[in-house]
Amino acid sequence: MNKIATHDSSIRHTTGQAIYIDDIPDQENLLHGALVLSKCAHGKIKKIDFSRLKNLPFQTTIVTAENIPGENEIGPIKTGEPILADDIITYFGQPVAVVLAKSFQEAQYASDLVKIEIEHLDSILTLENAYNKNSFHDDPIILEKGSVEKEMKKSKFKKSGEFEIGGQDHFYLETHVAITFPGENNEYTVWSSTQHPTEVQHGVSKVLNIPSAKIDSKVRRLGGGFGGKESQATIFAGISALCAFITHKPVKIRLNRHNDMTASGKRHNFKVRFTVGFSSNAKINALDIILLSNGGNVLDLSGPVMTRALTHLDNCYFIKSIKAYGYICKTNTVSNTAFRGFGGPQGMLVIENILFSISEFLNKSLDDVRQINYYSQSNGLTTPYGQIVSKPRINWVLNETYKLSDYHTRLKQIKSFNLDQVKKQRPFRKGLAVMPAKFGISFNKPSFNQAGALIHIYSDGSIRLNHGGTEMGQGLFVKVAQVVAECFKVSLDQIHITSTNTAEVPNTSATAASSGSDLNGMAAWNAAFTIKKRMIDHASQLFKKSKSEIIFEQGRILAGNKSLSFTELAFSCWENRISLSSTGFYKTPKIHWDQGKLKGHPYFYFTWGAAVSEALIDINTGENRILRADIIQDCGNSLNENIDIGQIEGGFIQGLGWLTCEELCFSQEGKLLTTGPSTYKLPGSRDVPPIFNVKLLENADNDEKTIFRSKAVGEPPLLLAISHFLALKEAIKASLPSSKAELLNSPATPSEILKAIYA
Ligand code: MTE
Ligand code: MOS
Repeated sequence: MNKIATHDSSIRHTTGQAIYIDDIPDQENLLHGALVLSKCAHGKIKKIDFSRLKNLPFQTTIVTAENIPGENEIGPIKTGEPILADDIITYFGQPVAVVLAKSFQEAQYASDLVKIEIEHLDSILTLENAYNKNSFHDDPIILEKGSVEKEMKKSKFKKSGEFEIGGQDHFYLETHVAITFPGENNEYTVWSSTQHPTEVQHGVSKVLNIPSAKIDSKVRRLGGGFGGKESQATIFAGISALCAFITHKPVKIRLNRHNDMTASGKRHNFKVRFTVGFSSNAKINALDIILLSNGGNVLDLSGPVMTRALTHLDNCYFIKSIKAYGYICKTNTVSNTAFRGFGGPQGMLVIENILFSISEFLNKSLDDVRQINYYSQSNGLTTPYGQIVSKPRINWVLNETYKLSDYHTRLKQIKSFNLDQVKKQRPFRKGLAVMPAKFGISFNKPSFNQAGALIHIYSDGSIRLNHGGTEMGQGLFVKVAQVVAECFKVSLDQIHITSTNTAEVPNTSATAASSGSDLNGMAAWNAAFTIKKRMIDHASQLFKKSKSEIIFEQGRILAGNKSLSFTELAFSCWENRISLSSTGFYKTPKIHWDQGKLKGHPYFYFTWGAAVSEALIDINTGENRILRADIIQDCGNSLNENIDIGQIEGGFIQGLGWLTCEELCFSQEGKLLTTGPSTYKLPGSRDVPPIFNVKLLENADNDEKTIFRSKAVGEPPLLLAISHFLALKEAIKASLPSSKAELLNSPATPSEILKAIYA
């Protein structure tokens, strides 16, 4: 297999030839929609006033929730999630109506003339306020193991604390976009930038009250999704389909950046309160903890996000007893959603912060505190949710990372650097920190762990590949094509990659949870192997050889001293009326999960990784940088080393953004103020550490039977950026004797850093 194959679209991406939804040429009758967004956080709609649109010199069409022929409902898990506000507005920026016109500029201009008269209602905008008012989406999700009360009493030390973790905008380059083309007999084709074409199909079906079979949901590629287009793309696709239904014309909905950031959900911000009981050697005996997440106005995927946060609280550590309550707060802000890591990063930051607090309390190094708590034969290997961590790779990834980063030498150098800064009356301090990580692979809900593929071989030997996964830049399509090329032993360019399409592969899961290549790779292998078996049967008859003597190799089929090209055999199969087309299906084995008890075996396997980061801060200004990062990531037997390295680099930098500079600010009225890169600080090219070493763990075949023993990579590297957050804490700790690193909230902006230094 070509493990260094480049992304199938890399040339097209860089030359502008890759076709995104917005690049689909406008049909003459195409209408553009602009959203009318609410201007209050909570209120009853008294009247939507369109009167000022009458005098415009161009034609407009208005669509509101009243025009919906089916249900105003696209909730992915629970109901109560409208595409357009019905009579109650529940957050500032909620879509209330759509104005359609011949051009986007006209539609946008007209949409600005719409007035929404409302009766204001009290709003809840913060986690604290929601908690005090018992405003939750559901009962808390509870993870419990052992007796926290007993173990807490037995513990020599107890420590309590609280901290906040900020949200994050996805800031995909391509904002939400969808075009719906109406056809005859109530057929609709919806092109949308979605990670979940099947959910778009179901959502449109519900909204229009038309069966799924009449709705084709398609996407060739997304200009980034990062979780933001897992459930929420359905809102905008649903709106475009509704408008196409009303007008009988194709309708495009494309959000500008301001509207995208305002009207679509983000990473959940969290607030955490804990009490931890531990012994004098830093061993954790009991953890009593409350996690508050900001679900926003509707539930969306907040339940599974909280579940993943709770099942990643342990990270690499055996915790004897735990009582963790996860409350999903119901607030009048946009509904938060999936974001790379899906709650896992928040959960892992929580335990790392707690370990840091213990290390400060006991005046021990963070590494020593970790060492005594790692999952191991002697400590225990059972997670709080009951899954056993068989064969942990903690020490393996750590040792490789120590080597790569020259950790122990640099630790000493940094100590003397910091002392030297004091002596020389200089304002700089450095910190160095490690982050070990374990990440569970599979959707927590077992039913989502399935995939399908469809392969056709044509009589000219060319191979058309389709599967349920979506391509959002992560390189899924090339990986799955590699699998098929490997099955037939043909070159990669013989595989034609096609758009995801619910008409070809139905009932798909979202491309999410990093499981895209695990699931679709296996499904495609199964489809290819079915055809290959038929081809082998046919070749064995042709060559008069036993099946075991038929060998596929380098685009040829060999049998003893005779051979045919792949194309010749494909043609011969066609001539002899042998089917060259097959579906393939895969479901992840071994997993089970009881969501009520939060117990089971939710993850097929774990990926492992570790990073070392070096941080520099200026104690006068709080300005900070990352100077160096070294990463080892366990990708099993990587399907594509280039793609995986790219995912690790990108994920890590995205994690740095979340933890240091990306800050969402809302006004007192609940209006998002940071709606573009001028006010929302994204990591730029100069924020990439000048020394950045990324390596895959070597000879690390997955213990489980995944496709070619590979491992998922999409999300886990993001949370390795926690190493930098911890390195900042180390630098703060070294700044002044009275500094309190444990006060540092995320994102660690200069003002947060100053607050912790001068505590
Ligand atoms: N990489 C790029 N370039 N763009 C993206 O939108 N999304 C991430 C990750 N890597 C994303 C990305 C997220 S949130 C997930 S879950 C995985 O890719 C999904 O793809 P996979 O399952 O094929 O890894
Ligand atoms: Mo990724 S957050 O699972 O789309």
